[in-house]
Amino acid sequence: SERTYIMVKPDGVERGLVGEIVKRFEVKGFKMLAIQMFKPSEEHLKEHYKDLAQKPFFPKLVSYMLSAPVVGMVWEGKGVVATGRKMLGETNPAASAAGTIRGDYCIDVGKNLCHGSDSVESAEREISLWFPNGVTNWARGFDSLIYE
Ligand code: GTP
Ligand code: MG
Repeated sequence: SERTYIMVKPDGVERGLVGEIVKRFEVKGFKMLAIQMFKPSEEHLKEHYKDLAQKPFFPKLVSYMLSAPVVGMVWEGKGVVATGRKMLGETNPAASAAGTIRGDYCIDVGKNLCHGSDSVESAEREISLWFPNGVTNWARGFDSLIYE
């Protein structure tokens, strides 16, 4: 079933918003398969964001991501890639609706709290990068209360 990689960025970790972000995915009904705090290397972050290497903001993005630990998570569920992105909000918090994580908790694009995979293919690539030893697959008792 579909999986996505969600990451609380350094500002979210420092501001104590990990629990809030985890909570939103839990109460929605998605299933957590992995969670870990990381202090990634510059090379690791450049690999994660390799599609953006030519962007003018890339050096700033990398130094932002190195400024404190991050918390990476794998979440599973029907449509979790697209729905996860909706829950995060737009890339620019100023364009994010109230009720989304970025819409509710941040202001600037360079301090936008969280990351979410942009496609199923990106998700699988990012999950392999951050959790090379795999995740915990488990059967949840109340799936019949979430899915029709
Ligand atoms: P992620 O979930 O973090 O991948 O964000 P996204 O998919 O909504 O946006 P994208 O992948 O295009 O950009 C990755 C990250 O780079 C964004 O989340 C921002 O933190 C940062 N970023 C993107 N555009 C800009 C920009 O114009 N200026 C600055 N300073 N940062 C940017
Ligand atoms: Mg992206």
